[in-house]
Amino acid sequence: MSRTYSDAYAQSVSDPEAFWLKAAEALDWDTPPPQGWTGQGWFAGGRLNTCHNAVDRHVAAGRGDDVAVIYESPVTGTRRSTSYAELQDSVARTAGMLAAHGVAKGDRVVIYMPMIPETLFAMLACARIGAVHSVVFGGFAAPELAKRIDDAKPKLLLTASCGIEGQKVVPYKPLVDHALELAAHDVEHVVLLQRPQVEAPMQAGRDLDWSSEYAKAAPVACVSVDAADPLYILYTSGTTGVPKGVVRQNGGHAVALAWSMVNIYGMKPGEVFWAASDVGWVVGHSYIVYGPLIAGCTTVLFEGKPVGTPDAGTFWRTIEAHGVDVFFTAPTAIRAIRKEDPEGRFIRETGTGRLRALFLAGERADPDTVHWAETQLAMPVIDHWWQTELGWPAAATCLGLGDTRRQAGSAGFPVPGFTFAVLDDHGDPVAPGGTGHVVIAAPLPPGCYSTLWNNETGFRRAFETFAGYYETGDAGHIDEGGFVNIMGRTDDLINVAGHRLSTGQIEQIIATHPAVAECAVIGADDAVKGMVPVAFAVLKAGRQDDGNLAHEIITLVREELGPVAALKNVHIVAALPKTRSGKILRAVIRRLANGEDVPVPPTIENPDTIEIIKRELRGE
Ligand code: COA
Ligand code: AMP
Repeated sequence: MSRTYSDAYAQSVSDPEAFWLKAAEALDWDTPPPQGWTGQGWFAGGRLNTCHNAVDRHVAAGRGDDVAVIYESPVTGTRRSTSYAELQDSVARTAGMLAAHGVAKGDRVVIYMPMIPETLFAMLACARIGAVHSVVFGGFAAPELAKRIDDAKPKLLLTASCGIEGQKVVPYKPLVDHALELAAHDVEHVVLLQRPQVEAPMQAGRDLDWSSEYAKAAPVACVSVDAADPLYILYTSGTTGVPKGVVRQNGGHAVALAWSMVNIYGMKPGEVFWAASDVGWVVGHSYIVYGPLIAGCTTVLFEGKPVGTPDAGTFWRTIEAHGVDVFFTAPTAIRAIRKEDPEGRFIRETGTGRLRALFLAGERADPDTVHWAETQLAMPVIDHWWQTELGWPAAATCLGLGDTRRQAGSAGFPVPGFTFAVLDDHGDPVAPGGTGHVVIAAPLPPGCYSTLWNNETGFRRAFETFAGYYETGDAGHIDEGGFVNIMGRTDDLINVAGHRLSTGQIEQIIATHPAVAECAVIGADDAVKGMVPVAFAVLKAGRQDDGNLAHEIITLVREELGPVAALKNVHIVAALPKTRSGKILRAVIRRLANGEDVPVPPTIENPDTIEIIKRELRGE
């Protein structure tokens, strides 16, 4: 394997086949891949099992006593370590539980669960028997869960009686029951894990008790699957109200994650990696569950928040207590900590133990936050960029390849395997430093999505706007020094506390309110969450705001999309600024909401609306 970033990058571009076949040697294969890229995905024809690579092979190598998972749960006061041997047993039994209810290779299993070890066992158990998991983030409401159930058509739905969100206990079962009422698809069973905080009611015949099913399950072995067989479906926000089911194949995923753990994050087997995210997001899939375990590291499963569980020191105490070597979180988490502890008192009190680097992703790491974190932690703070579709970082500073070059505000350099270009609207390259559409040459490297579930057309569309390239939907520039700078989206997606949301989808929900004639939702800047959605609604003729309307709209969005939408601001206005052709000037509204002094645009049809919006924002 090449030693320096430049060598590795050059080889990945000049001979991707050799580069990735070499990287594939880091895994155990039942049948080694006959070739790298095939029209069907990476390594098709090769056979392996992802769970074997994440768990069993480490036990077989004599590392059964090494810690695989540290469950750190400040919200329940629990701390528990699971060795690789124990993990193997738990996963094999969980797989036995699924198999006993007829789950076999290719069947889908929806997992709607909190950050507890059983969630991780369930994901690995699916991988073990070749079933396809689809984890749904707990912050989504019943209708969103229902959409995912109808698209994935799972045999089983796995859930727990509750999640714990900071100080709040969130019962999951009523939500699951409601989602199953809404969904057209019937699952055969719901397997329910009763947590001590909430005893959820069971529906006779349909619901099964996790603990008793698990107790009677026999462990089952790993099955061999084709590298191109799907490992999971992960739904993410698209620009329409319909979520996109990103499909990840077994082989490319395992190879990419194994490679990234070593070469991007610089991790060695036995070291401790912590991604403070949620298993419901891609970061959780790749770097709480699969990446660290495939690499033979210890992973930290943290059930808590950066602040409030119980305070802004919880991250540093966890890092210190467990000897975390490399830490990964979203910039919003650092901003939340900084707000509570601007002087870094907790950091100095606890120290950071063995920590050698902090990686940030999920949204652009603003230079101010990067500088603060670097000053407080006295170590590299590395912004890196990727998306659910890609599955692993496409731009980063590859610490494991000895690269330390960083520039606050930039996400680093193209990761080996990814060839970037920045194009204008016509598909022509912009000059270095110029802003345009950030695209990546096709085919994408191993680990990136192979299709969208039930939506091959949607998948292909991402490769059609710019011939030969995958359209990321992000805008940015690459500077003279080669640093990639990702500045924002070219579509209606926004990033709220590192969570990806579609303003179009929120608008669709608000438009269903009987009093609303039309609306616009924009992402306004927020000091902690990066962005928050702000809604502007115009009432139907004859409808009045009785003072409750904003609250009703907020509740509606919460019930339809979920608390994760974090919609707190709704403004009822007489009219929205529009162009003469009737297009709502959302960019103008966004700038006004950000407190900018916006000149009246020449294309505007109704200039008086600018003043209307300004007055409303001032609360007049
Ligand atoms: N289950 C149920 N509800 C959830 C949930 C879950 N898994 N996750 C979030 N929610 C709820 C929250 O309780 C909150 O509800 P509320 O409106 O009743 O308070 C709402 O969804 C919004 O949550 P969030 O955006 O996370 O805001 P927060 O105020 O609870 O916390 C941060 C703010 C910055 C501390 C938090 O968002 C954070 O830690 N972000 C890190 C982001 C991250 O991990 N991103 C993944 C990519 S790396
Ligand atoms: P998700 O699919 O939820 O991971 O969201 C991916 C989107 O988040 C990207 O397309 C970007 O718009 C944004 N994003 C993630 N990480 C970064 C980053 N490091 N810098 C800038 N934007 C980011």
